[in-house]
Amino acid sequence: MSKEAIAAAHWRPAFHLSPPQGLMNDPNGLIYFAGRYHVFFQWNPHACAHGAKSWGHASSLNLVDWTLHPPALEPDDWYDSHGCYSGSALEIDGRLWLIYTGNVRDGQERKSYQCLAVSDDGIHFTKQGLVLPHPPEGYTTHFRDPKLWQSEDGFHMVLGAQRSNGTGTVLHFYSQTLENWTLRGELLTGNQYGYMCECPDLFTMQNQQIMLFCPQGQEGDNWLWPNANASCYCSMDQDKSGFAPPQTLDYGPDFYAGQTMQGPNGERMMWGWMGRPEQSDTPSAAAGWTHCLSVPRVLDWQDGQLSQQPHPALQALRGNSLQLTGQAIHGEWQHPGLHGDCCELDITLSTTDNSACHIMLRQGRHCHTRLSWFPAEGVLELDTRLSGAGDGRISRAPLPSSTQMRLHLLLDRSTLEIFANDGKVVLSACLFPDGGANGISLLTEGSTCIEQLSFWPIKAMNVQEAPAASLLAMGDASADTQA
Ligand code: FRU
Repeated sequence: MSKEAIAAAHWRPAFHLSPPQGLMNDPNGLIYFAGRYHVFFQWNPHACAHGAKSWGHASSLNLVDWTLHPPALEPDDWYDSHGCYSGSALEIDGRLWLIYTGNVRDGQERKSYQCLAVSDDGIHFTKQGLVLPHPPEGYTTHFRDPKLWQSEDGFHMVLGAQRSNGTGTVLHFYSQTLENWTLRGELLTGNQYGYMCECPDLFTMQNQQIMLFCPQGQEGDNWLWPNANASCYCSMDQDKSGFAPPQTLDYGPDFYAGQTMQGPNGERMMWGWMGRPEQSDTPSAAAGWTHCLSVPRVLDWQDGQLSQQPHPALQALRGNSLQLTGQAIHGEWQHPGLHGDCCELDITLSTTDNSACHIMLRQGRHCHTRLSWFPAEGVLELDTRLSGAGDGRISRAPLPSSTQMRLHLLLDRSTLEIFANDGKVVLSACLFPDGGANGISLLTEGSTCIEQLSFWPIKAMNVQEAPAASLLAMGDASADTQA
């Protein structure tokens, strides 16, 4: 391993699923099947670059002990030769079905086939070939990422699509048999969703139909979302006439392609990809891996908004806690027990004079990450420009104006997930700080009170790699660019 690679090893997350090698992107096929959580993911095991993706596969009984299985799908058929692209899973009569997009490139020409695979044990899959051979009239071959569900009248799926005029939308298809799909229509109207919408998901929770999707466009005055590749959600109107205007699912720079599943207790769980479609060679690529998944999050629907919380199963990884209450601060504040690169902080702040308060994270001599609460403006701001290696930026999220603020933070080596306001505002970012940059401190511009603070060091998850997965060699795979 090179010097850079050794230096980069300290960025590998301890309680997030990350690729053993190569590049990981979208979570796929999330399902609770035969007593285990199954997480599949887009994986290029051959390089830290987008390419002919396999479906990597991890499963767990409890969300903290994981088995990494051999890939469930590999791009080895004519209809998926340039990638088994994103898709979803469904259990039907005790068998596990996967539906995914077979990506095929012939020079500049792209084909997108929607394909099935099936398994009896949830580990070994047999491909069944294609069930939807081409996009409908009026749409280009940017047509992918099926999310499947079953209802009383048959099977449904949503797919990301691009209209022939170059604008993005989500399409709804119906089938009685998983084959012979017919188009029911567009779920997003208008031209404001960029040039493509990727990775849609449609589900019902608490009697509310909700759709997630990822519009891709260009940042600028006419782009309504925090990032060029954004993560949004919208809810079905009460009269079922259409979806309400979308809201931002995650305001941070590094959350994309969120997909949900129903957990064993009926809860709606979501994982996302922590990374940016436009950036494949993060600083960790020097150590042979790039990107990871978010932690599993539990969704809740309240007052017309989604909220997200880390799944409570992760609490099993907590070490001894530090607890504080009623600590008034003026200027800078530190506590000897408060530092780390793999930790959880749940802090409630209040202000009587609307002072801005900054939380410095992963602080070292030459780097820090700043999270600022501006109560007067009702803004939460994450500044990763000085976080360390890699590209940083400023991300801003609107907050209801209030003199109190609860922030729940997860820091895991090269990731930061921020759940503000009980998870109604979420920001996720990848950071590449210097080794040993573990400082945490607060800085108030007036006076701020720490009403309550809980802090835990977090232990690593147990991830056992199945032998076949570890045998894959790094090398040149047939290169493809990101979808
Ligand atoms: C989203 C995406 C999907 C595609 C997959 C390819 O990140 O571009 O649309 O199926 O990644 O890896």
